[in-house]
Amino acid sequence: MTDNKLSPAVSPSGTPSVGADRWWRHAVGYEVYLRSFADGNGDGIGDLVGLHDRLDHLAWLGVDILWITPFYQSPMADFGYDVADYTAVHPVYGDLAAFDRLIGKAKTLDIRVVIDLVPNHSSDQHAWFRSARTGRDSEHRDYYIWRDPAPDGGPPNNWITYFGGPAWTLDDVSGQYYLHLFLPEQPDLNWRNPAIADEFDAILRFWLDRGIDGFRIDVAQALVKDEQLRSNPQRHPIDPAAPRWDQWHAHEHRYDICQPESIDIFRRWRRITDSYGAVLIGETYVVEPHEIDQLLAADDGLDVGFWFPTMAMDWDPHAIHAVLTGPSPTVRPKIGWVQSSHDEVRAATRFGGGDLGRRRSLALAVLLFGLPGTPFLYQGEELGLVDGLVPPEAKADPIGGDDPAAGRDGCRTPIPWDSSPNAGFSTAEQPWLPIGHRGVDETVAGQRSEPGAIVHRYRHLLEVRRSLPELATAPVEFREVASGVLRFDRGDLAFVLNAGTETVALPDGSVLFHTTAPPGGLENSPALSPDSAAIVALPSRPRRDL
Ligand code: NOJ
Repeated sequence: MTDNKLSPAVSPSGTPSVGADRWWRHAVGYEVYLRSFADGNGDGIGDLVGLHDRLDHLAWLGVDILWITPFYQSPMADFGYDVADYTAVHPVYGDLAAFDRLIGKAKTLDIRVVIDLVPNHSSDQHAWFRSARTGRDSEHRDYYIWRDPAPDGGPPNNWITYFGGPAWTLDDVSGQYYLHLFLPEQPDLNWRNPAIADEFDAILRFWLDRGIDGFRIDVAQALVKDEQLRSNPQRHPIDPAAPRWDQWHAHEHRYDICQPESIDIFRRWRRITDSYGAVLIGETYVVEPHEIDQLLAADDGLDVGFWFPTMAMDWDPHAIHAVLTGPSPTVRPKIGWVQSSHDEVRAATRFGGGDLGRRRSLALAVLLFGLPGTPFLYQGEELGLVDGLVPPEAKADPIGGDDPAAGRDGCRTPIPWDSSPNAGFSTAEQPWLPIGHRGVDETVAGQRSEPGAIVHRYRHLLEVRRSLPELATAPVEFREVASGVLRFDRGDLAFVLNAGTETVALPDGSVLFHTTAPPGGLENSPALSPDSAAIVALPSRPRRDL
């Protein structure tokens, strides 16, 4: 790689994570959903070799952090988020040697690698759970959460899973229920048992010793549960036909998530990751500002936490403003800003689809890249991809059910690399999910050869952000401007988004980035049309070459 240099990862134990000197505060992350990124061995499933061979694309884009979704041994009930061995690579993704080669290449390209850690639950095929299931006397019984049935024989409390339905499954062998906040094949680990913390310390060190730069902590908000496992207050009756998030929000999640003891786990892990200069990024899937504040408050806890309401908001200036200013100013520098992932409908689809959705998603990225914190792109976001089309017979997500609109397959269709068969993703006859009807102008090769394509806008945005190191420290000041327009200033830089219906004037100054004007045409674009955004260096800023 060329100019994509970050300050060295010097982070002596005890350095406050809110410090602007931490390397991830200057970084841009990129999520790779491994199954769908690039298939290196022609079996139709993305893998570590495929990722290794396509890493140059991330370097070209200017990405600093590569987050890879789980590649561990797994029966794949939830495509790898059900781990059967935390230190083994699933053969479908490669092996440890392929992993080491990937890390080696990433280092030569100045890309830091963050891997997914799945500590809330294991697979029901993990040796721990197989042992726990043999009976109440198993040495691993307390690795999981077991309870006797309620007096009526039903589940011990009213908790529900994130995927809908009761969070307890009755085990015939012992006559007890076990807890799972996701599929029954994903039993929750018992973090009140100190043996679990010891097991995970060793897992963290195993991967850190192989040279990784941090972890993305799956379900970080839910590791510890209420000691008494009390039922959650119910807000309204649950409609089993309703979308999964509506079902989830029928409860006030007072006892199953956001228990204060979780912070002790993060502290414990920080003592390990700090000694390697590595980063701890929480999935932190919460929707209330006070919850994200609580999860990120401790200086010696999570370094970064994703803030997901950006994935649920409408294209409405008030909604956007409320979401961006939700986390309190003290935790904002620790926010991981995202608008798409392998779990939700892609932003370009949500914001209207086609060119409109694409334009809006890029415009929102300008704000997310300008805020304190660490922005992440989800693979294909740089191409402006909308969700791929997946016919009902090709659906793969276990939570899809019969509802064609449900499930997460649409955001997981393979990356279109070029115009060869299977869009260059795989030489297999059929990839594990359909490519999803992509045009040549949506492929990486098609866009890279077309200077006006959206991928060049993203690349330029990353370049501009890299040239503005003060973004790690300058205070954020949201300003009242024309209706429909959002603006915040970072020192003498203005970030402006037009989410209204009228074209507006940009503030005086020199335009550093504009979503609808190519580099070079910037000075001629003093106006901001609807669904676009710009970065302006205000007149008080000394002129510098970018
Ligand atoms: C969050 C992951 O992103 C999602 O894909 C998975 O199903 C759940 N956690 C359970 O591990």
